[in-house]
Amino acid sequence: MNLERIPSGIMGLDELIGGGFQKGKTYLISGEAGTGKTIFCLQFTLEGLMNGKNTVYLTIDERPAHLVQDAATFGWDLDEPIRKKRLNLIDITPEFSELRMGKFKGDVENQKILDEIRDQVKKVKAERVVIDPIAPMFASSENQFQLREYIRQLMFSLDELGTTNLVSSIIDTGSNMISKFGVEEFFASGVIVLWMEREEMAYNRVMMVRKMRGTPIDLRVRKFTIDSKTGITLYG
Ligand SMILES: Nc1ncnc2c1ncn2[C@@H]1O[C@H](COP(=O)(O)OP(=O)(O)O)[C@@H](O)[C@H]1O
Ligand SMILES: [Mg+2]
Repeated sequence: MNLERIPSGIMGLDELIGGGFQKGKTYLISGEAGTGKTIFCLQFTLEGLMNGKNTVYLTIDERPAHLVQDAATFGWDLDEPIRKKRLNLIDITPEFSELRMGKFKGDVENQKILDEIRDQVKKVKAERVVIDPIAPMFASSENQFQLREYIRQLMFSLDELGTTNLVSSIIDTGSNMISKFGVEEFFASGVIVLWMEREEMAYNRVMMVRKMRGTPIDLRVRKFTIDSKTGITLYG
């Protein structure tokens, strides 16, 4: 079955992934701090807004006001879509404060997260959901097996929303992993990894498509730039 393709909003990327993300699926964008995950998420959001696709953008540990300011440095206006109830930008840090204090009750909390996302999607009739980043939601889970189960539940439930979803994961600096917990990539329909590569006395921004279900991928590492006029642009 050929699913509708959803543009990523990243110039040069869609042609590498069969025309875009598959509608209704969940994708992972991972990388260390400062590699461009949030800007990637913003571009996906803006592409949607420009084409009539309302979006729920969940942030954790970053104030929505800061995100709005950061977007403005690229000339991207989030205030208007928020006012028009086309963009639902929410900080879900408070929901997770208990969880972080070690009071994670597992299934109950996970269900709360999912209900919250579902409600927020309904509120603006969203067609896209962004979670930027996923990691702190589960930071206090002690048991690897449980953690894997929570992440599986969350990502599968996202797939049931009917929205096209982008989830970011912060890779610990210097680790060889491609996600925070080493499990997100299994449950995502696709994985794009961002990092920096040293070339003599400077670093280049690079990305690679690690996984894209139902789509042949080109495993070449691609350079990209972040520019205050266009955001992320991929090369060659
Ligand atoms: N207006 C801008 N113009 C050009 N580059 C920018 C601009 N704003 C941020 N950046 C670059 O993007 C990087 C941060 O990207 P971000 O998406 O926030 O990273 P992450 O979410 O992976 O931590 C910054 O370190 C900076 O180099
Ligand atoms: Mg970020």
